[in-house]
Amino acid sequence: MGETDVLILGSGAAGLTCALRLAKAGVAVTVVSKGRLAGGSTLWAQGGISAVFDADDSTDRHVEDTLVAGAGLCDEAAVRFTVERGPACIRWLQDQGVAFTLDDEHPGGGLHLTREGGHSHRRVVHAADATGRAVETTLSSLAAAHPNIQVLEHHLAVDLIVGPEGRAQGAYLLNILNHEVKAHAARAVVLATGGANQVYLYSSNPHGASGDGIAMAWRAGCRVANMEFMQFHPTTLFHADNRNFLISEALRGEGAQLRLPDAANQAGERFMPRFDPRGELAPRDVVARAIDHEMKRLGLRYVFLDITHQPADFIRQHFPSIYQRCLKLGIDITTQPIPVVPSAHFTCGGVLTDLRARTDVDGLYAVGEVACTGLHGANRLASNSLLECLVFGKAAADDLLPRLAGWSAPGPLPVWDESQVTDSDEDVVVSHNWLELRTFMWDYVGIVRTTKRLERAQHRIELLSREITEYYSHHTVSPDLLELRNLVTVADLIVRSALQRHESRGLHHTLDYPGSLSNARPSVLPGRSRDGG
Ligand code: FAD
Ligand code: SIN
Repeated sequence: MGETDVLILGSGAAGLTCALRLAKAGVAVTVVSKGRLAGGSTLWAQGGISAVFDADDSTDRHVEDTLVAGAGLCDEAAVRFTVERGPACIRWLQDQGVAFTLDDEHPGGGLHLTREGGHSHRRVVHAADATGRAVETTLSSLAAAHPNIQVLEHHLAVDLIVGPEGRAQGAYLLNILNHEVKAHAARAVVLATGGANQVYLYSSNPHGASGDGIAMAWRAGCRVANMEFMQFHPTTLFHADNRNFLISEALRGEGAQLRLPDAANQAGERFMPRFDPRGELAPRDVVARAIDHEMKRLGLRYVFLDITHQPADFIRQHFPSIYQRCLKLGIDITTQPIPVVPSAHFTCGGVLTDLRARTDVDGLYAVGEVACTGLHGANRLASNSLLECLVFGKAAADDLLPRLAGWSAPGPLPVWDESQVTDSDEDVVVSHNWLELRTFMWDYVGIVRTTKRLERAQHRIELLSREITEYYSHHTVSPDLLELRNLVTVADLIVRSALQRHESRGLHHTLDYPGSLSNARPSVLPGRSRDGG
């Protein structure tokens, strides 16, 4: 059995922020990642981190933009809490060594700021077009070198361990390299496992975004909220060899336009002004729905994003990663439009927390995309996610520090029992069900929904859940099986929340209830062990 003071599940921006802040205060921390330490969605984040730095900008404006994007469902206290702490978190990252792009036009004048959809000002701090890489590689190097941090790479958390008095005591971890499952004891546990966007066939996220933390917390009895609000990013690259590469919203911030393909398959009519006066810089839900509408209306496989109006040098300097990746695939974005489609990008809902990142289970915290803090409401404002990771990673550490001394280390934990299971001889069941689940979620629970399609999905989820539960109870666990088990749980939470919402709001758009109700309420589902499910 392993043992630590604080067990942090997940090594993206949220988990590493929390880990480094605790470790600096002398706490023994174990950071677990099911892949390499530098991984998760954080590594792939492009656009940047929103924070108020411009003299003409203000906290109130950032708060207001977040509330507008959130379509009436944000918790204003959580929004203000997050936004107010933005600039200090950016400075903390700079102190850790993250090299953000500086403003050439104002030497010594500080950070270069980009603009993205829904923002009334330039306020996105970035490291060219690979902000996440700069953040993740810096924080993971510091964590790997820190004497108070133990790193467990290639370990997948299977389930949380909650003691008889209801307090989190650790988790069962599958060592992916030797297939052993062991309990890891801790005085407190922090979930930082990211989102659930792989529940859809097409996603901008890396493979591991399978909602493990949301499913584990729900099984442990935590409430889960706002799961119907799955965000589709309007522009991922459409290419046979690369279906999940993001084309950052920052291109639209620099004037890139969405256009329909014309008869010669060149950039034709610009269509966003027909849908919203803010054009390409409308919030993401609006832009993704407009693209979906045009693709369905005209039977298109993609639309074009065109940034060729900008000088080639400007494009290469501001978007070096996107330029290089597209060029490798035969698209020179300085002279050609980019074929793009929407894809599942961000989980706005998650494990319900307060402003200290506490969940319903004593000693269990949730930070980053796994959590529902109230910041995003019905639709996340671009670049508010990394900000949330930084703010709430710190909030959890601040809350844990004075509490840890009062919590004793748990005694011996129950060992993982494999006596009743055998190795699977039919892995095809797992691979088939992965594909089936993600395909019907894409077709029935996507950008535009109907009650009938949601009910169809619900029926299939019930069948799959039974099959997967049966499989899980008879076979030794593998990463694919565990992720599938979590994905089907998350799919169930999404569809149940969507069916409960009898209105269209933000990212939840249903043809059966096209209008919004006058009183906006979050959808809150009780945890499994609390509703007996
Ligand atoms: P992640 O960074 O996703 O990390 C999750 C961690 O949990 C990983 O270490 C993973 O190995 C681990 N994990 C998961 N399950 C388990 C398990 N069962 N056991 C053990 N470990 C587990 N947001 C912005 O604000 N600005 C942007 O510019 C931006 N661009 C983006 C571009 C792309 C392509 C993508 C995919 C997302 C982007 N986002 C952006 C969203 C943002 O990157 C994520 O919301 C954020 O990085 C989530 O961080 P996190 O720490 O919560 O989780
Ligand atoms: C992007 O660069 O378009 C992603 C920004 C985000 O998801 O916040």
